[in-house]
Amino acid sequence: MSKTQDELKREVAQAALDFIAPHLTPASMLGIGTGSTANEFINLLGTSGLPFSGTVASSEASAQRLRDFGIPVLDLSLVNSLQFYIDGADEANGALELIKGGGAALTREKIVAAASEFFVCIADESKEVATLGKFPLPVEVIPMAENIVVSALRAMGGRPEVREGVITDNRNIIIDVYDFMIDDPKATETAINQITGVVCNGLFAHRGADLLLLSGQTGVRSLKA
Ligand code: A5P
Repeated sequence: MSKTQDELKREVAQAALDFIAPHLTPASMLGIGTGSTANEFINLLGTSGLPFSGTVASSEASAQRLRDFGIPVLDLSLVNSLQFYIDGADEANGALELIKGGGAALTREKIVAAASEFFVCIADESKEVATLGKFPLPVEVIPMAENIVVSALRAMGGRPEVREGVITDNRNIIIDVYDFMIDDPKATETAINQITGVVCNGLFAHRGADLLLLSGQTGVRSLKA
């Protein structure tokens, strides 16, 4: 019988926990991401009994889930560095470049990733692609800049659509860019960041993952940077 999507998420979350476990000490600080795969990781971390001192969460939703397990959640401004960041992705390529932000938490995720010494990305193998861009690329935008950012993204060849009814934890809007084949993720990440009014985009290419764990029907594969 084939494994369900939920089982695959749990399996890859367990693989991430097994990977970080030998490196943890009572002083360890962890960055924790957002989404259903990250939630599986929180469930396992919360009952693991492993030594660590606390966490920084990439969203209010994850912070609440961590607190529900009695895990300390700190503000990043109070923390010097994070030993590991564990998070999911919407797409990943073989160079460990990612699209993230399906859950609208991309800016905080990028900040937590930047503060982390080692980024473990966890996903089931349906997220693996040769070329990024089939998943619409999320862009977080200051609300008053909506029209000029939409025009600029259209001029770059994408089909931008405002995500209806979504306001980010930072009080901004999300524009999803469809039909965008991203051949050079680093260049595209830089170019979108240059558009005035863009806060952040969901390409994690300059700071991609250090380790990508992908679960499938035959087990978990590891891809290293
Ligand atoms: C959150 O903003 C995203 O970057 C998530 O990491 C991404 O959407 C993966 O979510 P799932 O684990 O639910 O697929």
